[in-house]
Amino acid sequence: MNILDGKKTSADVKTTVADRVRSLHERGFTVGLAVIQVGADPASSVYVRNKRRTCEALGIQSFGQDLPEDTSESELLERIAVLNADAKVHGILVQLPLPGHIDSQRVIEAISPQKDVDGFHPVNVGLLSTGGKALAPCTPSGVMEMLARYDIPLEGKNAIVIGRSNIVGKPMAQLLLQKNATVTIAHSRTQNLEAQVREADIVVAAVGRAEMVRGSWVKPGAVVVDVGIQRGTDGKLVGDVAFEEMKAVAGWCSPVPGGVGPMTIAMLMSNTVQSAEWFANEENGGARNGK
Ligand code: GUN
Repeated sequence: MNILDGKKTSADVKTTVADRVRSLHERGFTVGLAVIQVGADPASSVYVRNKRRTCEALGIQSFGQDLPEDTSESELLERIAVLNADAKVHGILVQLPLPGHIDSQRVIEAISPQKDVDGFHPVNVGLLSTGGKALAPCTPSGVMEMLARYDIPLEGKNAIVIGRSNIVGKPMAQLLLQKNATVTIAHSRTQNLEAQVREADIVVAAVGRAEMVRGSWVKPGAVVVDVGIQRGTDGKLVGDVAFEEMKAVAGWCSPVPGGVGPMTIAMLMSNTVQSAEWFANEENGGARNGK
């Protein structure tokens, strides 16, 4: 079995992003990303710190905003409006989950679609499904980038995505479809999941259940991508896939940690520089979103 190495691949993506950031800088544009955190959820704080550090390492200006847990929805919406209008900011990310008194969907919809580097705004969701110039969600984009860099063929292949979230499962299916895979979306109500998985050449597991996908489920030679990450009872990180069991049967598998995880942050940086390039080209009289 071959390893889909997200650590190495994400480093390659980041090198390319840093080059693109430098080119924009030479044209007079400093790429900027605003990462907003409301409250102090410890897991979110780790992710946010990582995002801001990666920005700095790649020459992207980071506009951090740490807001207290009791920030009102209208205060957050006002801050987003200011960032939407700020030409130095090319990407805006509001770390989820938000405190219960804030309507996340309203917040997502307040971010300018052109700066929505998470790809969560309905405009980007629509553009993704119609094949337009969308910013696509970072985790599924990271999976696609990894498959592309390992030259995994997708055209005409059977792909199964296990999980139907707006953040991973649904956009993952759209991206695989764009590459002409035949896509099945499985979920908690799917009957005979194991038999469905056995038909697949590509398996993307994004369910959040530790080691649910067993080696005995997959077709010999299948490409298995593990989006899950949980901490097991022994404190070790595990994914949705029984990695050890895959070694005897799969053609390729991504490990946890060191698989999809590092790709997600690299794709956030890639979306940010993409947004800045569109902005810079528009300033030069170029087109955006096909207009
Ligand atoms: N929380 C967990 N994953 C994500 C993500 O991809 N984007 C945002 N904004 N928040 C998250």
